[in-house]
Amino acid sequence: MRTHTDNGRGLHVAIIMDGNGRWAEARGWPREAGHRAGADAVRRTVEAAPKLGVRTLTLYAFSSDNWKRPAREVSALMRLFRIYLGRETARCVENGVRLSVIGRRDRLPALLVPMIEQGERATAGGANLHLRLAVDYSSREAILHAAGRLRGGRAATREEFARLLNEAAPAPDVDLLIRSGGEQRLSDFLLWECAYAELHFTPRMWPDFAAGDLEAALADYHHRQRRFGAVPAVKAG
Ligand code: FPP
Repeated sequence: MRTHTDNGRGLHVAIIMDGNGRWAEARGWPREAGHRAGADAVRRTVEAAPKLGVRTLTLYAFSSDNWKRPAREVSALMRLFRIYLGRETARCVENGVRLSVIGRRDRLPALLVPMIEQGERATAGGANLHLRLAVDYSSREAILHAAGRLRGGRAATREEFARLLNEAAPAPDVDLLIRSGGEQRLSDFLLWECAYAELHFTPRMWPDFAAGDLEAALADYHHRQRRFGAVPAVKAG
């Protein structure tokens, strides 16, 4: 699917995958069970995205503020990331999915970092979808870090700054930001990159998120009129 709204480069969709904990608690299960079910929803979404015109998909897997969660939940999430990388790297290669991880790596478990690097190397040629997983990610920190790297305080253009900000995994601005779980906030996710993103909030808990939900969000997006601060073009005649 390609429309006037994607500029021919495919869409960049970003997702705040919220609701795992509530989904599990509603069933009397530990929160970790919700994250495990959330990993299945990640697989479904990655599979569906390229067929729906998405070329870049950025998923918020672990925010820098998530370190404040109970140690047991944090370890379960880190373990899940290892399992995901171990299992999914080969499938990504098969399906032409290029995998990148954005965020800090210096606080991640030592075992996880080489797996990320290996996954990125193995999938580097993937041309169907660029999957960016945000792990230990804070948009404010990323912006501060990029600003600190501006040489001699030289003012950058917006384009230069955007390139600096996403040097590790270059991506266009976000076209559509989806948040599951019923909350309506950005939670320090891609603040610069979402400057003109369309926002879509759904009450669906992330473990229940399916291809149809992505399709519905994109259908909603394709009905929006994106003006980027300008006025709509006046039809001639
Ligand atoms: C937010 O839901 C979700 C997270 C902090 C973790 C996201 C992780 C996954 C979807 C699973 C694994 C991901 C990959 C890439 C394998 P929450 O726990 O805050 O839910 P709540 O608001 O209901 O408590």
